[in-house]
Amino acid sequence: MPSNSIDSLLHESRRFAPSEAFSAASEASADLYTSAKEDRVEFWADKAREYVHWHKPFTETLDWSTPPFAKWFADGELNVAYNCLDRHVLAGNGDRVAIHWEGEPGDSRSITYAELTAEVKRAANAMAALGVGQGDVVAIYMPLVPEAVIAMLATVRLGAAHSVVFGGFSAESLRSRIDDASAKLVVTADGGWRKGKVFPLKAAVDAALANGESSVTNVLVVKRGDNEVEWTEGRDLWWHDQIEAAEPEHEAQGFPAENPLFVLYTSGTTGKPKGILHTSGGYLTQAAFTHKNVFDLKPETDVYWCTADVGWITGHTYVTYGPLANGATQVLYEGTPDSPNPGRWWEIIQKFGVSIFYTAPTAIRSFMKAGRQIPEQFDLSSIRVLGSVGEPINPEAWIWYRDVIGAGTAPIVDTWWQTETGAIMIAALPGLTTLKPGSAQVPIPGIKIDILGEDGTRVDPPNGGLLVVSEPWPAMLRGIWGDPERFKETYWSKFAQLEGEQYFAGDGAHVDEDGDIWLLGRVDDVMNVSGHRLSTTEIESALVSNPIVAEAAVVGAADEATGQAVVAFVILKSNQEHAQTAAEASALLRQHVAKEIGAIARPREIFIVAELPKTRSGKIMRRLLQDVAEGREIGDTTTLADTTVMQIISDKLN
Ligand code: WTA
Repeated sequence: MPSNSIDSLLHESRRFAPSEAFSAASEASADLYTSAKEDRVEFWADKAREYVHWHKPFTETLDWSTPPFAKWFADGELNVAYNCLDRHVLAGNGDRVAIHWEGEPGDSRSITYAELTAEVKRAANAMAALGVGQGDVVAIYMPLVPEAVIAMLATVRLGAAHSVVFGGFSAESLRSRIDDASAKLVVTADGGWRKGKVFPLKAAVDAALANGESSVTNVLVVKRGDNEVEWTEGRDLWWHDQIEAAEPEHEAQGFPAENPLFVLYTSGTTGKPKGILHTSGGYLTQAAFTHKNVFDLKPETDVYWCTADVGWITGHTYVTYGPLANGATQVLYEGTPDSPNPGRWWEIIQKFGVSIFYTAPTAIRSFMKAGRQIPEQFDLSSIRVLGSVGEPINPEAWIWYRDVIGAGTAPIVDTWWQTETGAIMIAALPGLTTLKPGSAQVPIPGIKIDILGEDGTRVDPPNGGLLVVSEPWPAMLRGIWGDPERFKETYWSKFAQLEGEQYFAGDGAHVDEDGDIWLLGRVDDVMNVSGHRLSTTEIESALVSNPIVAEAAVVGAADEATGQAVVAFVILKSNQEHAQTAAEASALLRQHVAKEIGAIARPREIFIVAELPKTRSGKIMRRLLQDVAEGREIGDTTTLADTTVMQIISDKLN
C-alpha cells in the first residue's frame, strides 16, 4: 500500500537508533531543540547570523503585527547569489566542485565554485543589459542543465525574482504562468534530453508567446539539444552569445531581506495554479539550516545528490539554494532514472561517490519493483545518509531503501514540507533521532506544528486530525502572487475561530504516544502523483475545455507505483456519443489533458459514463468515484440525488 493508513502504521514497531559513530560526528546537537524551545524567534535570529552573510545586519527578527503577512529580518540586506557563490570563493573554497553535472547521453561537466561564480556574474550582466532588475520576473523553462541553476542565481543576484516552470509543462501552462507574473524575460533551451530523445522547449515558448500582447521582451536560448528552432529576430537571443559578450565582473549588491526571491506555481483546490511567493532572508536561513542539519552535511567531504528537477520546490531549496549556500558539492543529472539503463542512478552514485542521497518514495517503489539485483551491481558504499520527500513513505519501501541503497546502516530522513513552507518542517535529525519507518517524526527545531480536529481542538493519540503550523516560520510563503485574499482564504481561514494564527497545510496527520507525526495524505482536492501535486479541479477544467466533453470528474486513485494516479469520469456531449468509441474518446482526451497541462497530468484511465454521482445540492461525490477507481465496493450512496447512478456506472464498467 503506497499510502499510509492509521491502522497499518500503528502496527509498525521497528526502531532504528543512530550508530554511536554517526552520533559522535553529527552536525546537529541536542541543544538545537533546547535553545529553540527557550526562545524560538531568537533561535532563528542566531541561525540567520550563522548561515547567511548580511550586507547590512538586521536588528528586527520577526514582525507578525499584520498576520498572516510575516516579515523576517526586515531591516537587513543580503544578496542571495553572493551567499551561494562569492563568499565561498572569498573563503578560499573556489576550487571546490559546486556541481558535478551529468547529461543524459553521458556527457559530463564539473564546475567549481569559482567557475560557477564567474558564469553567474556574466549571466547577471547579460540579463541586466536586457533591462532586468529589482521588481522584474524572469521565467525559466529549462532542462536540468547547469544553466538552469546559473539563470536562477543570475536573476536573484540582480534583485529580480524567478518563476521556474517545469520543462514538462505544456505551452498553455507556461503561457498562464508567464502572464500571471508578467515575466519580462524567458530563459529556455533549444531542447533537453529525456529517455534518449531531445524534447523541444523553445517551440513551447514560441507557442506561449504566439498570440496577443506579452510582457516578455526577450527570450534567451541555451544551446543544448542541437535541434532546429524558429527564431524571432529582435526577441530571441542565444545564451552563449550574450554570455560571451557580457562583462566578467559584477559586484553583488545587497537587497532587503523581504525582497521577492521567486514565485513558484503549484496546484491548489481551484482550477488556477497559485503563484507561491517566497522572499530572501528568511527563506535562505531555513534552507541552509535544514540542509545542513537534516542531511548532516559536511561540505568538505560530502557529495550530495537531490534528484529533483529545479522546476519543483525541492529543486529550488535542496538543489539550488540550500546546498550552494552551504558550499556543498552536488550532483545534477539531466535524465530519467532508467535511461539508458535501469541502473543509471546507481551508476552515477558510484561514479561521483555520492554520500547523501535525497529522492521520492515513488522512485524507491519503482526500483523495488525492478529488483535489488540492479543496485547490487554497483558500489554504493559511499552512501551515509538517505532522504525522502514528496509523499508518505510506506514502511516496506523505507526498509528496502535502507537495506539495499543504504547498506542496512544509513539513516533515512523522511522530510515533510510543501512549496508553501519553502523548506523542511518535519524530519528526524539523523545523529539524534531514533528512526521509525513511515513516520516523518518531529518538527525541526524552531518549528511549531499541531494536529487539530475539525473543531480546532487538539487531537489525542492515536486519532487523526489536520496538520497546522501554529507559529510563523522564516521560509514561509509571503503570499499568493497578486492575490492576498486567496492567500488568507486558502491557508489561514480554516481555524479562524482560534486565538492565534494557524496555517492549514491541507494534510491529514496523527501523532503517536511518543509525539512522532505520521502523515496521512491530502484532505483536499489535491492529488499526489509521483510526489507531484495536481489539482482535480484543474484537470476537470482541462477536460471540459474539450468540445466533446459535457461534464468531468477527476479522482486520485491509489496506485502501487505513483502513490496516486489520475482517474477521470467523463460524460460526452449527446451529439458525440456515437461519433467515436469510448476507447477513442478516452485516448483523445488523455492526449488533450497532456497538451493543456503537461504529460504528468495525463489521466491513467478515463471512463466514459452516462451520469455522475451527485448530491441533491449538485455536488459531485468523488468519494464514490474513488471507490470505483480503486476497485472497491461502493460506499454509502444514500445522500445521492439519484441512488441508482452508481449502479449504472459500475455495471457499465464491469
Ligand atoms: C506531500 C513537496 C508525507 C504533502 C516538498 C504535502 C509529504 C505535499 C511529504 C506538498 C512527506 C511532501 N510525507 N507527505 N515526507 N512531503 N508531502 O508542494 O501532502 O510539491 O502537502 O512540496 O506533498 O507537495 P509540494
